Amino acid sequence: MTMQVLRTESEFQEAYKKGVPKTKYWEYTYEDSLNLIARLPELAAFIYRRVYRGGELVSRASDLDYGANFAHMLGFTDPQMHELFRLYLTIHSDHEGGNVSAHTVRVVGSALSDPYLSFAAGMNGLAGPLHGLANQEVLRWIHEVVKEIGTHVTTEQLKDYVWKTLKSGKVVPGYGHAVLRKTDPRYICQREFALKHLPNDPLFQLVSKLYEVVPPILLETGKVKNPWPNVDAHSGVLLQYFGLTEANYFTVLFGVSRAMGVLSQLIWDRALGLPIERPKSVTTAWIEDYAQKKLAGN
Ligand code: MLT
Repeated sequence: MTMQVLRTESEFQEAYKKGVPKTKYWEYTYEDSLNLIARLPELAAFIYRRVYRGGELVSRASDLDYGANFAHMLGFTDPQMHELFRLYLTIHSDHEGGNVSAHTVRVVGSALSDPYLSFAAGMNGLAGPLHGLANQEVLRWIHEVVKEIGTHVTTEQLKDYVWKTLKSGKVVPGYGHAVLRKTDPRYICQREFALKHLPNDPLFQLVSKLYEVVPPILLETGKVKNPWPNVDAHSGVLLQYFGLTEANYFTVLFGVSRAMGVLSQLIWDRALGLPIERPKSVTTAWIEDYAQKKLAGN
């Protein structure tokens, strides 16, 4: 929403109205993207401080980098949290161009909607539980595990809990991925960070134990193509350790990070002069034929 309001400042929109040539579109997309990326942490911090910290704002520090400054404006002073933010913002910035948020930014941008509108659309996709919202779901699920069986759990207790989750028709949040077929490298980066900075944290130890327990169970179900953890399986526990406990805010962090990746892609789309996206449609006859083939097992 805030992003859509900011579009009144869109240079792309102004330039388009004035009739700039197509070859120049990317330059205005670039300006808008940099302005948007520069403003995002301050806006996101403003919302956090208003919603969760009584409204007292923390001013931007001129001597801190982008990631550290964002943590600082949220109110975190620990240098390890600043380091975590650098890591978090880097690994969440993008994941190819086909994930829901990146693809949505690109498809909306392909209609020459300005970067503010395009990015806002992508954020609506990121808010879905199968996409960015998953990191909130993971932390909630981990808290449920702790509530039910505690933090110092045995492998057997954890196995039982995971089976119970699956048998109740739910998924284990943070496991599996649309395209990855091994442990998400972004999970590994976070694990290495945790091993260095919080090896004895009970929630990290639980996350580690889940890494041992969940993949063999998912394989045993015979229903999953990828039983390994993804980026979302780890992030909440790290943030929570340093005091960012408001899980509802995690997707906002993800969005700030993702802006860098998806807007870079949008600039390239404009620089390459890519056309408006228009996937092919199918006819009712095609669907009937497809369904019949499926039913026949072809
Ligand atoms: C992402 O970072 O967007 C997720 O891993 C989802 C995906 O790549 O499809």
